[in-house]
Amino acid sequence: MPDARLSVIPEVRSTESAAAAGIRVPFVRPALPAPEALLPAYEEILRSGQLTKGKYVVALEQAVARRLGVRHAVAVSSCTVGLMLVYKALDLSAGSCRSRQGGDAECSVNALEPLSRFGVVRSGGRSEPVGEVIIPSFTFLAGPAALVWNNLRPAFIDVDPYTTNVTAQAVAAAITPRTVAISVCHNFGNPCDIPALEAVAAEHGLPLVVDAAHGFGASMHRRPVGAGATAQVFSLSPTKLLVAGEGGIVATDCDCLAHFVRLGREYGNDGSYDALFSGVNGRMPELSAVTALAGLDILDAVATRRRQIAAVYRRELSRLPGIGFIEPTAGAEPSYKDFSVTIDPARFGMSRDALRRVLAGRGIETRAYYNPPCHRQTAFEHFYDRSRPLPATDLLAARSLALPIGAHVDEAVVAEVCDTIANAKHSL
Ligand SMILES: Cc1ncc(COP(=O)(O)O)c(C=O)c1O
Repeated sequence: MPDARLSVIPEVRSTESAAAAGIRVPFVRPALPAPEALLPAYEEILRSGQLTKGKYVVALEQAVARRLGVRHAVAVSSCTVGLMLVYKALDLSAGSCRSRQGGDAECSVNALEPLSRFGVVRSGGRSEPVGEVIIPSFTFLAGPAALVWNNLRPAFIDVDPYTTNVTAQAVAAAITPRTVAISVCHNFGNPCDIPALEAVAAEHGLPLVVDAAHGFGASMHRRPVGAGATAQVFSLSPTKLLVAGEGGIVATDCDCLAHFVRLGREYGNDGSYDALFSGVNGRMPELSAVTALAGLDILDAVATRRRQIAAVYRRELSRLPGIGFIEPTAGAEPSYKDFSVTIDPARFGMSRDALRRVLAGRGIETRAYYNPPCHRQTAFEHFYDRSRPLPATDLLAARSLALPIGAHVDEAVVAEVCDTIANAKHSL
């Protein structure tokens, strides 16, 4: 049964453009707070003229920090920008942050002094990437992009084919003298084993940066994911469970890191109009912050509903041969930001791509995440060390199929999608 609290979520109808494209069941629709919950604050913001740098960003940061149990939640314009600013703040090429493992007592903000400690000022003018960051190839392209923007080299590693996340063992085996950081991702909202990854990072004195874009709504041992690691960076774009419109959150226990991310989202300007390093405009607007703030009130209900829908998908599809499921990490309750399955062509009787075409023919929109994987994308393939095959990544990229999930998907929609999959072979 749907959670009664979700009655605050309005029915989201197909857009005209989706209808024009013949899409009856869109891939995703955001679960948003009811307009009545938002309009008074929208009106207040518009009448006040305080469209940015106002009280709602501060309120969102405080509420998220409380929820995640971290010292700092810094609101930014997107997860991608958050990741870029984290690497910038760490100045990984210099590798000199003493507070890389969050919560270190040595970590304190002291006006300009930490800048030289981070080496941010010294890092200008470098033309060749020097430091390498271990990162899964089976992840969204924003992860390696944030590295390359910081003059860092992605060193791609394989994932576990069942959880789709990297393991601590695979990370440890990939560390070389050139490694300056470790980057992992809670793929599809399935949390990584952060304590095990932190142990590897601590042993080698490396920062651990988590792409937690899919993390809101996920929990580990009944606590929301977001604490632990050097920083965890969330996305609040419309495909996520907590939506700002566009936006991101950098969660960290490190005072220095939070300080530099705050500076970085303000062009590197601390207010003196003398840029301390080259930052960006990475601010989250007030209208976005207030949208996400109201979204926090329904987040648990949204996550519970997603898990119910994921369970129905799994129950229905497990009757079919050749369909595989992502295994939640031990102790985890995934957010199911995506409900992704794998299609074994020999056992299922058709390829993932053929099945996608059948579904599309019925107006059911799907995604093939992450295909091509990062190490085969134009922007990143030259970083790939071909002597290191990534078989699980290639297999998942060829077989993964993300099915519609979101505010518009109820049991009836699941039944239709599953029936279409079950009868796909007859449609050829
Ligand atoms: C795993 C992952 N990382 C990063 C991002 C980028 O997030 P944003 O669009 O907020 O920059 C996404 C976007 O969906 C994502 O899926």
